[in-house]
Amino acid sequence: MKKNFLTTWKTPFFYYIESYGCQMNVSDTEIIISILSKNGFLLTNNLKKAHIILLNTCAIREKAELSIKNRLDNLRYLKSNNQKIPLFGILGCLSKSEKYSNLIDFSIGPNSYRKIPDIIRLVMRNDEKKITPILLSENQDETYENISPSPYKKKITTFLSITRGCDNMCTFCIVPFTRGRERSSSPYSIIKECENLYEKGYKEVTLLGQNVDSYFWFGGGLKKQINNSNEKIIDFSRLLDLLASKIPFMRIRFSTSNPHDMSDRVIEVVSKHSNICKHIHLPVQSGSNKILKLMNRKYTREKYLSLIQKIRSIMPECSISHDIITGFCNEEEENHLETISLMNEVKYDYGYMFSYSPRPGTYAYKKLKDNVPEPVKKRRLKEIIDLQRIHSIFKMKKYLGTTQEVLIEGKSKKNNQDWYGRNTQNIVVVFPKKLSKIGEIVFVKITNCTSATLIGRIDDNENK
Ligand code: 5AD
Ligand code: SF4
Repeated sequence: MKKNFLTTWKTPFFYYIESYGCQMNVSDTEIIISILSKNGFLLTNNLKKAHIILLNTCAIREKAELSIKNRLDNLRYLKSNNQKIPLFGILGCLSKSEKYSNLIDFSIGPNSYRKIPDIIRLVMRNDEKKITPILLSENQDETYENISPSPYKKKITTFLSITRGCDNMCTFCIVPFTRGRERSSSPYSIIKECENLYEKGYKEVTLLGQNVDSYFWFGGGLKKQINNSNEKIIDFSRLLDLLASKIPFMRIRFSTSNPHDMSDRVIEVVSKHSNICKHIHLPVQSGSNKILKLMNRKYTREKYLSLIQKIRSIMPECSISHDIITGFCNEEEENHLETISLMNEVKYDYGYMFSYSPRPGTYAYKKLKDNVPEPVKKRRLKEIIDLQRIHSIFKMKKYLGTTQEVLIEGKSKKNNQDWYGRNTQNIVVVFPKKLSKIGEIVFVKITNCTSATLIGRIDDNENK
């Protein structure tokens, strides 16, 4: 018999996995762990013990891509003397990139994770020293809806993807190319999974989607096949309403909301249920109508501001966070100042800010000029980061002296004697443990703050 990988290496096979990028990748990693465990592969956090090393990658900006390249270079020492083991596999949004083919044994995209065990076995059986990446035809309908995620370690909060892919085609964004067309999981599977998570001890679930508000269930398949006469249609507001009523003791969050798709009904449902957290992540990307148009964002500055007003008039306590890109193609100083003035008008609780990074394959990469010089991008980015810090501190100070309802999630990183958790607005709160336990909801009196953390002590009066 020909000697091959399977006969020279004894089972069980150990695999090691790292996750990069967004929350959806964290959630996907949990799905991958679930698939691999069911197929007899064992998870290890010891790189040296692993037969298979998996990197679940991100392609959103060039920086994310470079960090994967560096990581692969750093891990190369594990494969000395032309050994076959460990196998290197790239998963996620960089899987289609040809650039890594000389560093890896296989690559699998975000819609093909069910095939991971078979692909690994196939690569193991192959006697060639180097195997070119196997690029699969992706299943564009995949939602993984009947696979329960398996976390790396025990947690109180978790993510659940309810939509995948994106049809919005923002001109800067690579996601439609890496993750494919938009599709939604069935409401039955989502409710069942959330009930299942609650029974397992989870106290909070974040519903995920690149564009979660465009969740739409009409019986399955891609959105373009919609038959509008279907009475069973469930949109995001109905899904939230159903979930919040069915699992009243589970905290529910969701991310990310595209301002174009957020309906008034969603805002009403969030305000109606005390178990839906009062925080909305509402990326604006730019405060300039000219730039929003170039980005194909499908809303204007005015529409965005009126949405913010609507949210605040119904839920004044609701926190709002943002994503902003600076230095997009043709962004002039005047347009940058419009972003600054929008930030001053909204005064966000917090936000994520990036300088524009052209991504091959996108409309902006192909058709627009990346014409803002790097030092200008950097300076503009610094200006908005500095401004956000001022707004965050302003917002945090408003909590001083108040009592916040906090779900305890774990030990504080800085002090073993402190817990950390989050209030409904998604702000981190740190406080001495006393007799409280992970998973409990406690009332914490806020006595101090930084720009990102509230500091307090358990309010004995409220916790009686
Ligand atoms: N360059 C810079 N930032 C980007 N984002 C998405 N694509 C790019 C890009 N090409 C940012 C957006 C998005 C967040 C997840 O990442 O702000 O909301
Ligand atoms: Fe990165 Fe976007 Fe892929 Fe998430 S979906 S891993 S942010 S490219």
